[in-house]
Amino acid sequence: MSDLKNDVFLRALMREPVSRTPVWIMRQAGRYLPEYREVRAQAGDFMSLCRNPELACEVTMQPLRRFDLDAAILFSDILTVPDAMGLDLYFVAGEGPKFRSPVQTANAIRSLKVPDVESKLSYVFDAVRTIRRELDGKVPLIGFAGSPFTVGTYMVEGGSSREFPTIKGIAKESPEVLDHLMNIVAETTIEYLNGQIEAGAQAIQIFDTWGAALEGDDFHRFSLASMQKIMDGLIREKDGRHIPVILFTKGAGPLLKDLADTGCDALGVDWTTDLATAREYVGDKVALQGNLDPATLRESPEVIRQGVADTLASYGKGPGHVFNLGHGITPDIDPDRLGALVDAVHELSPAYHD
Ligand code: CP3
Repeated sequence: MSDLKNDVFLRALMREPVSRTPVWIMRQAGRYLPEYREVRAQAGDFMSLCRNPELACEVTMQPLRRFDLDAAILFSDILTVPDAMGLDLYFVAGEGPKFRSPVQTANAIRSLKVPDVESKLSYVFDAVRTIRRELDGKVPLIGFAGSPFTVGTYMVEGGSSREFPTIKGIAKESPEVLDHLMNIVAETTIEYLNGQIEAGAQAIQIFDTWGAALEGDDFHRFSLASMQKIMDGLIREKDGRHIPVILFTKGAGPLLKDLADTGCDALGVDWTTDLATAREYVGDKVALQGNLDPATLRESPEVIRQGVADTLASYGKGPGHVFNLGHGITPDIDPDRLGALVDAVHELSPAYHD
């Protein structure tokens, strides 16, 4: 496997000096790109696309052909894990993810087991190997998984939810049942992420999209503790290189302080906390990734450029910043607007580095 030609993303995650701020975008492969929509139509549906390593590789590469990005992210989904546990994931257009066999009772949760990750998720590991070959060292590849609580919300609610009534009810009435769910998903996720690392993922991001919807004590007991368990089980070095881990708890705010103590290398920050404040919370412990409001991409190129300037200024000088949005890019965005963002990061960020 060839050497990495651009490691500015990995170095920024480890707070090493860089000459400019690296940039990648959550959901950079997706429906806002017409070429993605074409390949998904060819695959038939979203899960068939995920299960086909050649097509998953193709859509991973698409944003890199258009934009000067510093990392690729594996094309897959956080819900492949419960699918492998037998919940049977499917997508209904316009309605998001659903499970044919959700686990909504204490008994159903108690009978969950860690599946045979190696065989059930081999299509993901194949995709990682295919993408690494195709990238040929251009930029590093990010592997990912959801946090156990975030994945658990879909498993228990049966799909997307706004209020999480079922899982929050279990947290209050039978917390030990939810502990079991968190443990099983965490153990599965450790095997899953280590499999991605063995196959060639060079950094890992854990998406904790819904953890901050829990009240403080419950966030610590369920979401933070299960991410800590994952952190403690991950392979941290491969082929002589450290494997950096990014934890992204959306809406974390002051919880960033506790997340910084997990042993991760970097924290994702959404736009509701400015980077200067986030930096005060975490000091020099970890790098920060973020955090332009994705809605800014609906504005003019001038407004986008100003947003990039403000985000860079908010982090300030010095190493340890990875530019990103505060959450994923949405399907309605004109790809040229993302081009304006990436160009602005390239032009404006060298002033923040020696
Ligand atoms: O970032 C990337 O480019 C990599 C791919 C990626 C996808 N999903 C592809 C996808 C990643 C990292 C995810 C993570 C994911 N999936 C999260 C956490 C990240 C976040 O945004 O907070 C969550 C909660 C999911 C679950 C999920 N998958 C939902 C809620 C949906 C439906 C979204 C919608 O708007 O309909 C998906 C489907 C999905 N995952 C799509 C993509 C590109 C759209 C599917 C399609 O083509 O129709």
